[in-house]
Amino acid sequence: MLQELDTIQVAATEALTNATDAEALEEWYRATLGRKGNVQQLSRRFGEVSAEERPLFGKRVNEIKTALQQAFDERSAAVKREHIEGLIAADALDVTLPGRQPRRGALHPSTLVLRRMTRIFGDMGFQVYRSPDVVTDEYNFEWLNMPPEHPARDMQDTFYTTQENVLLRTHTSAGQVMAMREYHPEPIRVILPGMCYRNEQITARSEIQFHQIEGLAVGTDITFADLKGTLTEFARRFFGRDRETRFRASYFPFTEPSAEMDVSCMLCDGAGCKLCKNTGWLEILGCGMVHPVVLRHGGYDPDVYTGFAFGSGPERIAMLRYGIEDIRYFWGNDHRFLEQYS
Ligand code: DAH
Repeated sequence: MLQELDTIQVAATEALTNATDAEALEEWYRATLGRKGNVQQLSRRFGEVSAEERPLFGKRVNEIKTALQQAFDERSAAVKREHIEGLIAADALDVTLPGRQPRRGALHPSTLVLRRMTRIFGDMGFQVYRSPDVVTDEYNFEWLNMPPEHPARDMQDTFYTTQENVLLRTHTSAGQVMAMREYHPEPIRVILPGMCYRNEQITARSEIQFHQIEGLAVGTDITFADLKGTLTEFARRFFGRDRETRFRASYFPFTEPSAEMDVSCMLCDGAGCKLCKNTGWLEILGCGMVHPVVLRHGGYDPDVYTGFAFGSGPERIAMLRYGIEDIRYFWGNDHRFLEQYS
C-alpha cells in the first residue's frame, strides 16, 4: 500500500507537467485529488493496512495530498501566466510597420455656407443671436402679424408638439420678437441662424428640415436704403464683386414694404439658362422693413423706431452656388456628396 502511494505520487506529479491548459488541469484534479480521484480512493482503503503501519500510512496520505495540492496550485499559476504571455505576444505592436493615415472629417456644406454667411454679416457688425427651435405659436405666427385666421399660415405646414400652442419653428423669423424683447430699448443688429421645420412632401426642392439665416436691424434711423446697401454688399462678398442684384416687390406679413432679392445667375451670367429658368436671375432671400405690429410686440415704439429684416436659406444658396440639384443630398449622409466640399 505504501508502495502504491509512492507510485501514485510520482505518476501524478509527472502527469501534471503535461497539463498545459485549464481544461487539462481540471481533468488532472478530478483524476487525482478529486472525490473519485486515485489518491482519495487509495486513502479509503486504510482498512487493508496492518495496525502498526496505519499511522505511517495516514501520515503519508496527508503528505502526498498536501504536496500534490501545492504542485497543482503552482502549475495552475504557471499555465495562467503562460496564457497571458501568449496573448501579449500575439498582440505585440510592430513599431516598424507604417502607420495608418487617420481619416479627417470635413465640414458639412450647410455648415460651410452658414459660416461664410455668418462671417460676412459679422464683418458688417451683426452679432449671432441664438433662438430656440421649439417655440410657441405667438413667436412663430401671431406676433409676426399672422393672427390665427391669417391666410399666410396656410403656406406653412407646421409640426406641432403634443403640447398645445407649442411647435417647431417654421422659420427663423420666430426669433425676431425674442431678440427685440431681450435688446429693448437698445438698437439691434443680429443674425439668427438655425434649423427650421415644415411638414411638407420631401422632394428635390423641399425638405422637412432646413437652415435659415434671419437678419434683424432695429434703430431710430434705419431706412430701406440701409436694407438694400447691407444685402447688396452681402451678395457681392458672398457671390463675387461682379454679381448684379435686384429687389422685387413682394409680400410678407411681418414686413412692410417687403421685397425679394435676386442675384444675376452665376451659371449663365444673366444670359438665361436652365438654373435660372431663363430669367437670368436667382432669388436668394426675402426681406423688408419690420412691420409696426412686430416692432410693437418686441417692445419698440414704431413711431420712434424702424428696422429691416431678411431671411435666407443656406441650403438653397449652396445649391445655387455649387449647382446642387437635389436638396435631399444635404441629409442623405452620402460621403460621395459630402466629400466634394471638404
Ligand atoms: N420667414 C420667411 C420665410 O420663411 C423669410 C423672410 C422673409 C424673413 C422676409 C424675413 C423677411 O425676415 O423680412 O419664407
